[in-house]
Amino acid sequence: TLTQAEKAAVVTVWAKVATQADAIGAESLERLFFSYPPTKTYFPHFDLSQGSAQLRGHGSKVMSAIGEAVKNIDDIRKALAKLSELHAYILRVDPVNFKLLSHCILCSVAAHYPSDFTPEVHAAWDKFLSSISSVLTEKYR
Ligand code: HEM
Repeated sequence: TLTQAEKAAVVTVWAKVATQADAIGAESLERLFFSYPPTKTYFPHFDLSQGSAQLRGHGSKVMSAIGEAVKNIDDIRKALAKLSELHAYILRVDPVNFKLLSHCILCSVAAHYPSDFTPEVHAAWDKFLSSISSVLTEKYR
C-alpha cells in the first residue's frame, strides 16, 4: 500500500495529468504498441495507427479508469472491480502486459511533466500503477 506521502505525490501530479488525460492516454498506447508490438494482438479489431480515433478513444477510457483509482486511492480494488472482471474473465490479458503498459504510462507522464517527475514522484507513480495492475490481474488465479 502507498504511504501518505506517496498518495499525495500521485494526487498532485494527477491534477496536472487530468488536464491532458486523453493525449497522455493515447501517447501511452502508442508507446506500448510501438515498443512492444505483440501487445497489438489484443486489439485485432482496432485501427492502431498513430492518432486513430479508436486509439484516442481507448486511451481516454484507460485514463478515466486511472482517474477513478486516484479518486479512490484508499480502495482501488473496489473502484476497479468491474474492470478487473473484464480483464480477467473476458479479455484474458496476460499479466506481463500490465507492466509494459504501466511503464509506457510512466514514460508519458515523465515526458509531459519533466520538472514534476522527481525520483519520489516516479517511485510513487510506479507503486500506484503496480497497485492498479495487481487489482486488474488478481482475479486470474
Ligand atoms: C478495455 C483499462 C490494461 C487490453 C479496457 C477498458 C478500460 C481499460 C477502462 C474499457 C472497458 C469498457 O469499455 O467497459 C485498463 C487499465 C489498464 C489496462 C486501467 C492498466 C493500467 C490493459 C492491458 C491490455 C488491455 C495491459 C493488453 C495489452 C484491453 C482490451 C480492451 C480493454 C483488449 C477491450 C477494448 C475494446 O474492445 O474496446 N481497459 N486496461 N488492457 N483493455 Fe484494458
